[in-house]
Amino acid sequence: MAEIGVGLVGYKFMGRAHSNGYRQVAHFFDVDPKPRMVAICGREEAGVKAAAEKLGWEGYETDYRRLVQRDDIGLVDVATTGNTHHAIVLAALAAGKHVLCEKPLANSLTEAGEMLEAANAAGVVAMVNFNYRRVPAVQLAKQLISDGRLGEIRHWRAVYLQDWINDPSFPLVWRLQKDLAGSGALGDIAAHIVDLAHFIIGPIREVVGTMDTFIKQRPVETASGGGAGLSAVRGTEMGEVTVDDATTFLARFAGGATGTFEATRLAPGRRNYNAFEVNGSAGSLVFNLERLNELQVYLTDDPDGMQGFRTINVTDPSHPYAAAWWPAGHILGYEHTFVHAIKDLLDGIKAGSTPAPTFEDGFRCQAVLDAVERSVGSGSWTEPVEP
Ligand SMILES: NC(=O)c1ccc[n+]([C@@H]2O[C@H](COP(=O)([O-])OP(=O)(O)OC[C@H]3O[C@@H](n4cnc5c(N)ncnc54)[C@H](O)[C@@H]3O)[C@@H](O)[C@H]2O)c1
Repeated sequence: MAEIGVGLVGYKFMGRAHSNGYRQVAHFFDVDPKPRMVAICGREEAGVKAAAEKLGWEGYETDYRRLVQRDDIGLVDVATTGNTHHAIVLAALAAGKHVLCEKPLANSLTEAGEMLEAANAAGVVAMVNFNYRRVPAVQLAKQLISDGRLGEIRHWRAVYLQDWINDPSFPLVWRLQKDLAGSGALGDIAAHIVDLAHFIIGPIREVVGTMDTFIKQRPVETASGGGAGLSAVRGTEMGEVTVDDATTFLARFAGGATGTFEATRLAPGRRNYNAFEVNGSAGSLVFNLERLNELQVYLTDDPDGMQGFRTINVTDPSHPYAAAWWPAGHILGYEHTFVHAIKDLLDGIKAGSTPAPTFEDGFRCQAVLDAVERSVGSGSWTEPVEP
């Protein structure tokens, strides 16, 4: 069986999640090529060396430019802050490597356009890690809609709510700085529900939105915390928050449906509430990441007197990805979405074609984020730029 050498850039939250994906994938799925965890990359030697040992990498690099030039690496995985995606991806593509890039694809539409162009020119596999597409219940939702079980789709209603910056003394981490993150709730979490909407309902035709920053100053970060990469140590000096705390927008889809989107990191009690509801002429469905093994479905053609939402436990071997794991009901979690993404990526490398979400999908998501920002400036309905 063939192997492909992997080089992963970034070793904190997503670095850990992706490493787990590469460690697990060949133990549960038949993949060809199998990933070989050649090197992980970070700028600080002691940190990246410790990460390599803990996460199961053969070695490490302290400069991504050296990583992408290595002959024993065929796939470069970019799991770094948004301001670095453009440079690292372009370097990897120029070196002829396949690429997996974390979401959102870039920090601006201009960068995303250049990355899409470079990926097309390189002719390699280049995928964006919108991992929530690969929750089995999300795949089932997509199947039900594609099969026409919900009839004509009229409403998409999505929220992505978190609460980790609700405390005003939480420090000014990179996700709160525009030059590093591109935007706040918009690019960090609304990007996920835009991609899910594109996957499940289809292209968004126009948007109009609001963006707010409620806590305008925060203590400057003095050291980065561990764990999920969302924690940090604060100093006494204050700095300006330059991104949105919360973004809300209305959308009209090309297929005729209307949609609402809300993303905030200031919703106390909502830890990682990524949820959507779809209403069609023949039924509805509801998904919530905090109960990701479940899909609620209502069908109007159920017999009279028996109508109501049913909750499907999406772990049956007949469900997407589920047969590779455990017997029905032995539930899956967040980390499995990364294993599924890597499995599909490796299948794509074997087949010589990029699995969705491609860089074009990444660009289309970025174009919606860009249109939302422009609509906030103009106060009017705004169309996303086409690739
Ligand atoms: N798909 C998801 O569910 C999900 C979840 C969280 C984050 N993300 C995305 O993943 C990316 C990383 O986020 P995170 O939460 O892991 O951040 P993090 O702060 O936990 O880690 C960022 C990593 O990037 C490294 N880095 C920054 N610049 C670098 C450079 N020039 N060279 C090498 N390493 C560099 C940092 O050292 C760190 O290891 C972002 O694009 C974010 O939007 C995706």
